[in-house]
Amino acid sequence: MAGVTDRPFRTLCKYFGAGHAVSEMMTSDKTLRMSKKSLYRANFDGELAPISAQIAGSDPIDLAEAARYQVENGAQIVDINMGCPAKKVCNKLAGSALLQDEDLVARILDAVVQAVDVPVTLKTRLGFLNGKENILRVALRAEQAGISALALHGRTREDMYLNTARYGLIKEVKDTVGIPIIANGDIDSPKKAKWVLDYTGADALMIGRAAQGRPWIFREIAHYLKTGQDRAAPDIIEVRDVLLGHLSELYEFYGEYSGCRIARKHISWYTKGLRGSNPFRQSMYQVENTADQAKVVADYFTQLLDFGVRIDEIQTELS
Ligand SMILES: Cc1cc2nc3c(=O)[nH]c(=O)nc-3n(C[C@H](O)[C@H](O)[C@H](O)COP(=O)(O)O)c2cc1C
Repeated sequence: MAGVTDRPFRTLCKYFGAGHAVSEMMTSDKTLRMSKKSLYRANFDGELAPISAQIAGSDPIDLAEAARYQVENGAQIVDINMGCPAKKVCNKLAGSALLQDEDLVARILDAVVQAVDVPVTLKTRLGFLNGKENILRVALRAEQAGISALALHGRTREDMYLNTARYGLIKEVKDTVGIPIIANGDIDSPKKAKWVLDYTGADALMIGRAAQGRPWIFREIAHYLKTGQDRAAPDIIEVRDVLLGHLSELYEFYGEYSGCRIARKHISWYTKGLRGSNPFRQSMYQVENTADQAKVVADYFTQLLDFGVRIDEIQTELS
């Protein structure tokens, strides 16, 4: 996820049991390759395997070249983005806009698969417009091109993030093609994960927004799938320690200025719903350096502990 799944966050998700974590999307536009943003996104230094780099664009030759570049850069899997609904991406006929042109989709898939000798995966949606879902044809073409796995968000571009994900079509895709299907969309609890897995027959699940501020969701889901039992949510001390550890990785990765700013949204996600978190977040946003930021976070958690906020209360609030 752009702006979220940077290397520090992917590392944390993998630590908590995610089997696979894909980079933020990276444009296939060569002229932007050395931009600060691209360099951060393409940083896989020391990352736990498998390293998966997502590329976005609309030109088969550029995308093939971007795939080769990412493999040279350390990617062990290349993922093609045909799901992004953002205007600035779709206006360039990239992301989910590609679903309007199946011939172009086919040329991109062929070009990228042939360009690299690592697995190429595809991330997409059900279609561009509601009523015109073409995912079955796209999935069959992806299989024919040699795509290794298909991650499917159960919405169209028209849906953006509205309504709820539709798993019926994910199931149909799973029943139609032979390649592994990764079901995605609105999976936010171990029970939902199990339900989606059972209902769609998918080979794997992809979790996006529910992992924001809650990277231990992978541990909880894995436990539930294995045992059928809920695993206790982390207690307040573990939440504090995970967050402070995450902050220190962000500071090291992005440096003083950007580290402090990028950390803010993560702090907000981790503390959402906790007692007194609204005024805490407002004051936290005023802090302009990493040392003070880590200190206000630690102080906030100390306060929660001092107030005797019960662990089960936190668990309820976090779940
Ligand atoms: C802030 C944000 C950024 C995203 N960036 C990407 C991206 O770069 N590449 C991608 O394939 N999907 C991206 N997505 C879509 C997610 O991968 C996922 O398909 C979507 O959020 C639905 O899954 P969820 O309900 O588990 O969040 C993004 C979603 C959000 C909310």
